[in-house]
Amino acid sequence: MGAGKTTIGSEVAERLGREFVDTDQWIEDEHGLSISEIFESKGETYFRGVERRLALDYLGGPEPHVVSLGGGAVHGIEHALRHYAYTIWLDVEPDVAWARARRSDRPLARDEASFRNLYTNRLATYRKVADSVVSSGDVDGVILAAAGIHHELGALDGLGELVPGDGPVALVGDPTVVGIYGPRALEALGARLQQTIDVPRGEAAKQIDVAQRVWSELRLDRGGTIVALGGGTTTDLAGFVAATYLRGIPWVAVPTTLVGQLDAAIGGKTGIDVPEGKNLVGAFHWPARVVIDEALLQTLPERERRQGHAELLKTELLAGRRLDVRGAAAFKAALCLRDPHDKGPRNVLNLGHTFAHALEAAADFDLPHGEAVALGLLAALRLSNRDTTRVEEELDPRPVTVDSERAWQALLRDKKRAGDAIRVVVLTDDGPRLEERPAEEVRRELVRLIA
Ligand SMILES: NC(=O)c1ccc[n+]([C@@H]2O[C@H](COP(=O)([O-])OP(=O)(O)OC[C@H]3O[C@@H](n4cnc5c(N)ncnc54)[C@H](O)[C@@H]3O)[C@@H](O)[C@H]2O)c1
Ligand SMILES: [Zn+2]
Repeated sequence: MGAGKTTIGSEVAERLGREFVDTDQWIEDEHGLSISEIFESKGETYFRGVERRLALDYLGGPEPHVVSLGGGAVHGIEHALRHYAYTIWLDVEPDVAWARARRSDRPLARDEASFRNLYTNRLATYRKVADSVVSSGDVDGVILAAAGIHHELGALDGLGELVPGDGPVALVGDPTVVGIYGPRALEALGARLQQTIDVPRGEAAKQIDVAQRVWSELRLDRGGTIVALGGGTTTDLAGFVAATYLRGIPWVAVPTTLVGQLDAAIGGKTGIDVPEGKNLVGAFHWPARVVIDEALLQTLPERERRQGHAELLKTELLAGRRLDVRGAAAFKAALCLRDPHDKGPRNVLNLGHTFAHALEAAADFDLPHGEAVALGLLAALRLSNRDTTRVEEELDPRPVTVDSERAWQALLRDKKRAGDAIRVVVLTDDGPRLEERPAEEVRRELVRLIA
């Protein structure tokens, strides 16, 4: 009571594209009476019965919902909550809760002493059922928790507790990252660490022969967990190995690049490259946890940071507001929770990427992804009739020297074609959307990016 669960619940539901159910509201509507009136005419036991049945209906139903549960409803449905729900305890100071609840005409909020008693008595039950605890009002916090993302400065040193379960761990990383952060990770994992496996730096890690070597070096059984410490190439490869080894074991991503923290480690896409193209073989395999420790970015070379900056600006354009790493991670996480297998809403994350991929292919991938994205964002903004100043000032995109016909052919191959029109993500007043644009118009914007 007074934790703000109706407000936060409806915002979370909106971000996740799910229906919101407020059990109190539902019961009031159904009876045409306020909760107080139901308490008076039918008694609390009756009310709890209705509340419980309603909650169980939604928990057992086929569609995922965001459900705001009355504080007293938890009792008696703990088992169902554990099995069918991700349960978030909205933490609120008793003073704040009381200040809000006293104005509400709630039957159990009429007297301060008994309200505070109730608050204290319910804590133990909440602690038992909650999958995580989030501060009242923190919408991003709810989304991050539901996506298994832990964001905290210094989190690396708590890694032992953040890897779910208590089974053995195999740590996977490249020599640079393991050189810098390996000792702290080892210390944090303690006796759980069974082995450390080296993978090459950069894109060279995302190769089938590397995956094969990691498969054969792994000593974990199904109770074990792979922990990937590194940039997007490490997490893509290690996640793919985790998806396939013993038909799938859990993995934890500890992204150490900006690209990793706000993009690559989020959303469950894992994979490797094949001669026919990048990321063409892989699996959706959501990490059991993503540990985002921004302190790890302190050692990141400037060139790598710029790669991430392009993706951050892309996310800000999609969100229509400024974001920090945590906010950008939550933005992507919400889209991915909403569309885990990339069949719809998630494709807006491709803003600028149709152009970026075409330029990268025409440059034989000798063009950093962030620079290609910066150019792609220019084209996407121009197609959307939007101001390009921020992209120009913050990312300073320079036209690239590639063959424009090759780039165009690569864009056409990129499977976003619909007859004479090409599907591209554009920004509209109602937010980002996948729209069909005439091929000539798209081609003209592509050519403008080429020196
Ligand atoms: N799975 C997804 O959804 C997804 C999304 C975006 C990108 N990706 C993939 O991510 C990859 C790019 O990842 P990236 O940009 O993180 O590059 P990366 O993994 O190659 O890392 C870049 C370099 O930085 C070094 N490094 C990493 N962290 C460091 C640190 N904290 N301090 C010092 N050096 C550090 C690494 O050793 C490496 O040499 C691409 O293969 C791309 O396909 C995947
Ligand atoms: Zn990208």
